[in-house]
Amino acid sequence: MKKETIRAARALTGGLQLPGDKSISHRYGMIAALAEGASELRNFAAARDCHSTLSCMKSLGAEIAVDKSTVKITGHGLHGLKKSWRTLDAENSGTTIRLLSGILSGQTFNTKITGDASLQKRPMKRVVSPLRQMGADIAAKDDDFPPLEIHGSKLHAIHYEMPMASAQVKSAVLLAGLFAEGETRVTEPATTRDHTELALAEFGAHIEKQGRTITVHGIAKGDGKSTLQGRSLDVPGDLSAAVFFVAAASLLPDSNLFIGNVGLNPTRSAILDFFHSMGASITVVNLQSLQGEVVGDLTVKGAALKGGVISGNLVPLLIDELPMLAALGPFTEQGIEIRDAGELRVKESDRIAALAENLKSMGAKVEERPDGLRVEGRSAGKLHGAEIEPHGDHRIAMAFAVAGLAADGETIIRDADCAGVSYPTFFEELRRLSES
Ligand code: S3P
Repeated sequence: MKKETIRAARALTGGLQLPGDKSISHRYGMIAALAEGASELRNFAAARDCHSTLSCMKSLGAEIAVDKSTVKITGHGLHGLKKSWRTLDAENSGTTIRLLSGILSGQTFNTKITGDASLQKRPMKRVVSPLRQMGADIAAKDDDFPPLEIHGSKLHAIHYEMPMASAQVKSAVLLAGLFAEGETRVTEPATTRDHTELALAEFGAHIEKQGRTITVHGIAKGDGKSTLQGRSLDVPGDLSAAVFFVAAASLLPDSNLFIGNVGLNPTRSAILDFFHSMGASITVVNLQSLQGEVVGDLTVKGAALKGGVISGNLVPLLIDELPMLAALGPFTEQGIEIRDAGELRVKESDRIAALAENLKSMGAKVEERPDGLRVEGRSAGKLHGAEIEPHGDHRIAMAFAVAGLAADGETIIRDADCAGVSYPTFFEELRRLSES
């Protein structure tokens, strides 16, 4: 297992182009495989997770050619997938298994899908339950965990009032809705990322939004008029990957960092508002609309960060950014407090436990709670380097690499390759941009 050593830095300077957004790449990859004809997806994510999605779609009969960050996918229409004789492997990717469960439920064949040791511990009942209400026939280990055995069924539309704010659950139901008879409705308790809705509309699905309710119209077999059509699309840069660099540049006083082509979808950009509220110096320029999504460029300079509290409806809007925010806590004036975020315990790792453990090993003062944590700010003392155990979780590895830049001495990130799940060139870019 590869280790990375991080040393204290003075600044992050230069320019960064990000890999394509992980969430959007998953959706474009799946929906292109359900569309008629060829799609070209440019700046497709380098994230290992998205390549797990592509290999699943390939096993289901889509023609897929990858040339660097351009992915060409030829689908055979909504009803054109074929049975995979192999068990599908979603590897580390929750989005792959949960979204694909929606698609696989409406097929005329059976599929088995599983993932790595971490994914096999992640709950699937949240998608299995609504899909069963639609008529899906799914068996899961202990009725909750992968592997899933999905017996293709005739689905019918439902109105699903989601008990939790999860974009993956919403997306699984909407994708299943394409195969269901009638209009499938999902109402979410709080806003979550809307990339599935936007992507479905781009590929030509009939989809509407009213408040927090999204409706998708099923497409019956043989309905030539309303099929999904192959598209040529550009994936915006991944804001959740940019956040590690935004945090690092903010922490280091002499920083001046430019990040180009960042996805700024309003259901994702609450993190920038939160950085602003903490006193960060971030300028957003060149805002443009890109095939339903919003992109722009960012400049980030060093600034004293105040800290703050993340709770309630803000949690789903910056769920993937919480590890980075928690690891920033000791460098802020008031510290960081995260509440209402029990979900963090069932991510790629138990992120609350992993954050508390590693923050403490760097000398931070942390109170771990069932649904979050409180990290004391600067007055609790400066962090020192330590050996970090990411528990196989990409965002834990990257968050502590950033903390290491502002800590005394050396920080060693064990199993650093796990960053590749979302950002294979993360450490290379961090080395290139940091100045000691
Ligand atoms: C994602 C949704 C979120 C997020 C995950 C990606 C998506 O998960 O944490 O990294 O692409 O839909 P939940 O839907 O479980 O909150």
